[in-house]
Amino acid sequence: MGETFEAAKVTDSVHWVGAIDWNVRNVHGYQTARGTTYNAYLITGEKTILIDTVKAPFAGEMFSRIRSVMGDPAAIDYIISNHSEMDHSGALRKTVEAVAPEKVFASKMGARALAEHFGEDLEVEAVEDGRTLELGGAGLTFRETRMLHWPDSMVTYYANDRVLFSQDGFGMHLASSERFDDELPDWLLEREEVKYFANILLPYSKVVKRVLKTIADMGIAIDVIAPDHGPIFRSKVDWIISRYVEWAEQKPTRRAVVAYDTMWESTHKMARAIAEGLAEGGTQVRVRRLGPSHRSDVATDMLESGALIVGSPTINNQMFPTVADMLTYIRGLKPRNLIGAAFGSYGWSGEAPEQVAEILRSMEVELVGEPLKVEYVPTAADLERCRKLGLEIAARLVEITA
Ligand code: FEO
Repeated sequence: MGETFEAAKVTDSVHWVGAIDWNVRNVHGYQTARGTTYNAYLITGEKTILIDTVKAPFAGEMFSRIRSVMGDPAAIDYIISNHSEMDHSGALRKTVEAVAPEKVFASKMGARALAEHFGEDLEVEAVEDGRTLELGGAGLTFRETRMLHWPDSMVTYYANDRVLFSQDGFGMHLASSERFDDELPDWLLEREEVKYFANILLPYSKVVKRVLKTIADMGIAIDVIAPDHGPIFRSKVDWIISRYVEWAEQKPTRRAVVAYDTMWESTHKMARAIAEGLAEGGTQVRVRRLGPSHRSDVATDMLESGALIVGSPTINNQMFPTVADMLTYIRGLKPRNLIGAAFGSYGWSGEAPEQVAEILRSMEVELVGEPLKVEYVPTAADLERCRKLGLEIAARLVEITA
């Protein structure tokens, strides 16, 4: 007897039939400390419609949950692919072969992406942006959300039950036995949602604003937001939309993150002294030593901060590899409206702080002061210079947030 799984009822005609990945800890460089879910949804009625599928190894779990609703999955009439990234399309070919649906729908770019992933023989019908289909009494409207976060991305609005199937948008990487927002504590939703936005959606903040406007312009009532990852929003729909509006703005705050690595604790001491100065100046500060902290934690703090201060010792005329890794990652996230500084200790050459500063400048981070360097081990006077740098950054944050 194989494993069996149950679906979760979302509305009278919508069930969650996805999969829970308790153990994944890395999604393209983003540390998913609490795992994730791959959400798929079944709309039942005169016709049966599957919205998205799951990552390939989880196909069996999805089929089992589908069986718990409708017996034989072969009775599925239509499949809608809102997003072709393989955590949602990995099981698509297997599903199409098992179900033989009348049609598979995707956006125009989605149809192309699916062909490139699975071959031209996978028949997919492209739906126009804004088109509404009546599929056996179910009214479904498709809106493209290009580059949120792939070119193919679209959302599907199911008018009968006022459900927005939002694919990656409004998702979070959180494995849980609970399926709904009101079954989980607010702090957990907040933590994982902000981390998800910072690590997945931040580069597309302008697109987020445009998509939120598109949704608002549709003039639709939304009772449920059903994303492709994490819990389903049914009680905090307005909350999550308002958080997206806020994060997409990237307004500076009086918070700072100090991210660094250290060889013999000298850069560590500098980081702590800078943090003391920041706190003394009224800035909330988070100190992140790379290694114990992951690059995706720095990204999360950065979204909520007005200042990014980066430290690195010099090794073989270069910055530390962990610092280079983190900077490469967060530069790709295209943060905006940050101030910052570079610092680090060195033995004899000392190139790293300037190298860090160069990358921060390329990110359009407004630098406070020159890169701060300390030879070998910081003296009391050196640590005072660090504390003063923290105070200067705090003062600048006060100015730009006034
Ligand atoms: Fe969850 Fe962009 O895939």
